[in-house]
Amino acid sequence: MLMSDRKEKSSESTVTKTPNQAWGGRFNEPVDEFVVRFTASVLFDQRLAHEDIQGSIAHAEMLQHVGVLSKTECEAITNGLAQIGQEISNGCFKWSEQLEDVHMNIEDALTDRIGATGKKLHTGRSRNDQVATDIRLWLRNQIDILNALLSQLQLEIIDLASRHSDTIMPGFTHLQTAQPVTFGHHLLAWNEMLERDHGRLIDCRVRLNQCPLGAAALAGTPYPIDRHLSASKLTFDRPTANSLDSVSDRDFAIEFCASASILMTHLSRMAEELILWTSAQFNFVQLPDRFCTGSSIMPQKKNPDVPELVRGKTGRVTGNLIALLTLMKAQPLAYNKDNQEDKEPLFDSVDTLRDCLRAFADMVPTIAPNKEVMYAAAKSSFSTATDLADYLVRKGLAFRDAHEIVGKSVAYGIEKGIDLSDMSLSELQQFAPQIDSEVFAVLTLEGSVSSRDHIGGTAPKIVAAAAKSARSRVEQRQISKVTASPAC
Ligand code: ARG
Repeated sequence: MLMSDRKEKSSESTVTKTPNQAWGGRFNEPVDEFVVRFTASVLFDQRLAHEDIQGSIAHAEMLQHVGVLSKTECEAITNGLAQIGQEISNGCFKWSEQLEDVHMNIEDALTDRIGATGKKLHTGRSRNDQVATDIRLWLRNQIDILNALLSQLQLEIIDLASRHSDTIMPGFTHLQTAQPVTFGHHLLAWNEMLERDHGRLIDCRVRLNQCPLGAAALAGTPYPIDRHLSASKLTFDRPTANSLDSVSDRDFAIEFCASASILMTHLSRMAEELILWTSAQFNFVQLPDRFCTGSSIMPQKKNPDVPELVRGKTGRVTGNLIALLTLMKAQPLAYNKDNQEDKEPLFDSVDTLRDCLRAFADMVPTIAPNKEVMYAAAKSSFSTATDLADYLVRKGLAFRDAHEIVGKSVAYGIEKGIDLSDMSLSELQQFAPQIDSEVFAVLTLEGSVSSRDHIGGTAPKIVAAAAKSARSRVEQRQISKVTASPAC
């Protein structure tokens, strides 16, 4: 009665009718009904069904190869599993909480279909190495899907950037206008963040791509198994190196959730900028109506709900990372039931990330910048003041003196309500006689951005070239993915 719900204690029958078939041998009484529900994971881990079947087929074929299963037995098992896979895909498989998890549901269904041979499938393995294998297979596949979506989003960003390699906007520090930049340059900054995120997901995939099968419960198995064979059948790079570690650690899931959190943090920054830019106060860009919603009370409102939700969902993905770190903290070797709690946060992070990447990939090509508004904003805030200081340095002044002189010219501009580029030559010369008519080439927004023409700079020609090489970087990895031979 330890775990029973106190309120229901008196009225509810607290035992199941039969002890669990898979491990009930040493038990004298059936498990408390609440405990059955409390310990079951099938409601969520059925998501691993296809990977579970894939892993079981590889295991059975390996057992046949080493002579533990006969050819007939192996065929009966693999055909039975394939049929179960079909039923699951068709949605007609009956899941049972009494059977605890995805592994025991499938194994039970197999024995139902093919009889006693089904019971031989679990030879030389445990649910501990089985589940560790299933999650790795599942996550590996999800990383591939996420990275394809991420690449698609990057290409949309790069496209928009190349269309706006010379569109001028204010660049900000402290959210105050700092220096003019090009919109394309700003967008390529987004792309760089995402490029690193892609790299992190690839790193994570490389580290997780090892096969735990054969670790069994924790200590390995006395059967003459061939771990390289099961690993290669599942296109893992190699078998894991230590049986205790294989069944216990979930650092691959933690690493994925960490990468997902950083990626979501980047998406939240992009979302925040879109939210600011679409506000009436900025009015830098427009989002089509289909990505926005209205207000039930204020008829004039067009709210940027999609970017706001992406920003908000970042919290749950970071929360999932903390959940997994805390789950693993101080866990003694080897497998502990705590690890069953790894799945929901992991699934949620994958689902959330997929939806957010999709939302952004759909939204980015529709971003329409209000070029005149951006230009005017860049011009209105003395954003070329540093250019004037740099010009004076080139005329022989020390930077600190130049800074002081430009500060005075800005104060004058504020008083007169004019930009530095709108001042006449003689007005400018009051502050420094060294100034000549060439100054206007650097005081204009176009002159300012064009002068930053080094690697990583904002000059239109640099941005156009950077967009080109960013595009080929993404396309190249898409091509090499398609042509790569399967790893084993
Ligand atoms: N459902 C379990 C999990 O997700 C499978 C492993 C169970 N192993 C065990 N020794 N109880 O972790």
